[in-house]
Amino acid sequence: MAREEGTESHKTGSLQEKKEHARHNAFLFAGAAGLAGLMFGLDTGVIAGALKFIGLDLGANERTQEWIVSSLMLGAAFGSLLAIPVAKYRGRRGAMLYAGFLFLIGTGLCALAQSVAMMIAGRVVLGVAVGFASFSAPLYIAEITEKKARGKMISLYQLVITGGMLLAMFSDSLLAYGGHWRWMLGILAVPTVIFILATLNVPYSPRWLVSRGRRKEASHVLQRLRGTRDAAEAELARIEKNIRREQGNGFTLLKKSRGFRKTFALGITLQMFQQLAGINILLYYAPHLLEHLHFSSSAAIWCTTLLGFANMAATGVAILLIDRWGRRPLLLLSTAVSTVSLCIFGLVLFMKIDGMAGSIAIIGLLVVFILGFATGEGPVPWTMCTEIQPLKGRGLAIACSTFANWITNWLISNVFLSLMAVLGDYGIFWLLAVFNAMFFVITLLFVPETKGCSLEEIEERLNSDVRLRDIGQPVSRDADGKDFPAGAAAERG
Ligand code: BGC
Repeated sequence: MAREEGTESHKTGSLQEKKEHARHNAFLFAGAAGLAGLMFGLDTGVIAGALKFIGLDLGANERTQEWIVSSLMLGAAFGSLLAIPVAKYRGRRGAMLYAGFLFLIGTGLCALAQSVAMMIAGRVVLGVAVGFASFSAPLYIAEITEKKARGKMISLYQLVITGGMLLAMFSDSLLAYGGHWRWMLGILAVPTVIFILATLNVPYSPRWLVSRGRRKEASHVLQRLRGTRDAAEAELARIEKNIRREQGNGFTLLKKSRGFRKTFALGITLQMFQQLAGINILLYYAPHLLEHLHFSSSAAIWCTTLLGFANMAATGVAILLIDRWGRRPLLLLSTAVSTVSLCIFGLVLFMKIDGMAGSIAIIGLLVVFILGFATGEGPVPWTMCTEIQPLKGRGLAIACSTFANWITNWLISNVFLSLMAVLGDYGIFWLLAVFNAMFFVITLLFVPETKGCSLEEIEERLNSDVRLRDIGQPVSRDADGKDFPAGAAAERG
């Protein structure tokens, strides 16, 4: 009896160990994919500090400098579309590897640039790499992680983006003393090589393997990720069922499925509004804006770094909360905080509050805005855009929403200075407040709660034609304040 008990506990122990080991594997693989976010953050963050010196060395005027900054965003927009066929035929892992090599080529071109044309070419290549990375890394992470931890794992990607930006700000400040712009850009080859080596060590996404008919490999990868054969087989069966149900590609699904048209539109809307929230206006132009508001140039640089730090810290908090509170509460809180802080910020500028009080109010409100953004508007769109899409349309939908993110980013950063001249500094922040308020309403009406649901469960609900906001955990309430069961929500329209 005692021996039996011993064997039993030994079995449970080793089962526990297997699961623990599997969780560790999933974390490592997601971490490796998350390095794509680091590259994203480093490459978008590094240019702010280097730009002045590049302008002097290569003789680039202000308009050309704008192109040096924005060529990366255009490259990223098109890179995210190009990533569709690559991720489909070469896998999500393949797309990340291509991103790694493109990062390397782009870094080389920029660091060695002898002319503005060469610099812009390098930035476009980097942009395509960022597009590949921002398309494939969250997708890969969503496809390998368990439902319980999925929000946290994808948001880790956002944390690394903000970490990359902060690191770039620090390294720029250090290298700025000698004006070493080639080093600022060239040093990025180091994390790029680490990213490539890490990606070479991750397995293919099991969902992609199944979609390519490679069942045996998928089962093997799932066992590494889930720890037991039973868990792997159960998940495999769910994936296969979903794949069998949907024949054809994303475009045919778009024509055929009303549910997919809704999630497709929601993905694009979330990503556009993430950019319309105004985060990059602050991150790209903070020093410029603060100098315009009479901060000294060194105070402006330090305040910008403070914003970068707040961004990263609040993203860390969001990671802790996203799988507990859920996506909707975080996004509602975030859009509300951003709206209010921008309204008051506009008011401070409108009333021309000067002196110490004005400076404290300006910095305080910018920090509050960044904290608001980073707890929801930053991580939730990236997380949700991968979660709500059905497998057959996932590639197309994510590519289009990522494209929307980058194009809106490009547009808003390009028109910001001209718009500020027309609307006044306060006017532009009130406009951003309106966008954030719209984001709040959109969240309230349409955003589902996907916390704790598997991708297959979400897809099943989507196919049963329930309301968009009920495709995860139902959030509609009936007259008695009870949740509609998923099926009943459809009947009620
Ligand atoms: C956005 C980027 C932004 C970053 C800031 C990301 O989610 O897509 O455009 O620069 O957050 O943290």
